[in-house]
Amino acid sequence: MPNNEPQGFKEISDKEFKIISDYIEKNIGIKISPSKKVMIQSRLFHRLKKLNFTDYKQYIDYVFNSENSDDELVMMINAITTNKTDFFRETDHFRFLEQVVLPEFVSRHKNNVKIWSAGCSSGEEPYTISMVMEEFCSKNPGKITGYKITGTDISTKVLDKACHAVYSLESVAHLDLGLKKKYFMKNTEKKLVMVKENIRSHVNFKRLNFMDGDFSMSEVYDVIFCRNVLIYFNKETQENVIRKFLRYLTPDGYLFLGHSETILSMNLPLKSCAPAVYKRVLKAD
Ligand SMILES: C[S@@+](CC[C@H](N)C(=O)[O-])C[C@H]1O[C@@H](n2cnc3c(N)ncnc32)[C@H](O)[C@@H]1O
Repeated sequence: MPNNEPQGFKEISDKEFKIISDYIEKNIGIKISPSKKVMIQSRLFHRLKKLNFTDYKQYIDYVFNSENSDDELVMMINAITTNKTDFFRETDHFRFLEQVVLPEFVSRHKNNVKIWSAGCSSGEEPYTISMVMEEFCSKNPGKITGYKITGTDISTKVLDKACHAVYSLESVAHLDLGLKKKYFMKNTEKKLVMVKENIRSHVNFKRLNFMDGDFSMSEVYDVIFCRNVLIYFNKETQENVIRKFLRYLTPDGYLFLGHSETILSMNLPLKSCAPAVYKRVLKAD
């Protein structure tokens, strides 16, 4: 039990852990090994406390067998997902976007760019992309006339934070002062920053589960970022999800994965261009 858990709480049993981890793997794709039992217990503890339950059996009955199931499933998923992210995380990808991808689009006379940040967590990734687009547009006036970024995630908690676009001062401490001045409003008293409207206005958010049928996205994208999400899935699920992304990626479009994710051994119509960056081609080699 986590240290702050009061007396009287029963630890999660192996059987209860299996019911929850099986549900999550089947419906969300995230594989949770038995070694993560304590982590899951600690992440769900706050739900139990909130609902005045003292053991995980009561919680399992509530989340899977009661009329409150739908709402509590959303809360359970919010509690279990790992949402770590940062502005300009794995920064070489944003350099590649600015120095290789966007100049190539310009040379192809593509002046309207659509980008999908899939598994966007609390918004730092799509807002970073918007800043990169803004920087490129100001250095190359008239070359790109419009851009739009869609951020999706399964967690309503992080999407809520993303929509508010308010972050701690600490979360932008590593950014260049010029960028901070241009793209964030600062509230020193509250130690917070807010992403400025010129960056936010290009970004919209929606909830999407990668395990859902064919995603039903209404657009195709020139670039898809899906970084540090697939690492939680098994190989087969990873490949299925990437195949679904490909339906929404323009020919010659780019797919960015996280640095610890790879498509090696999957026979996909993608060619490698830089570490964890792939370009769609007509057929797999
Ligand atoms: C570690 S964060 C990565 C955020 C960002 N892409 C980055 O690299 O900084 C992973 C995100 O994937 C989301 N996620 C996990 N499983 C998902 C699923 N089945 N469908 C959609 N999003 C999912 C989580 O909620 C979480 O916010």
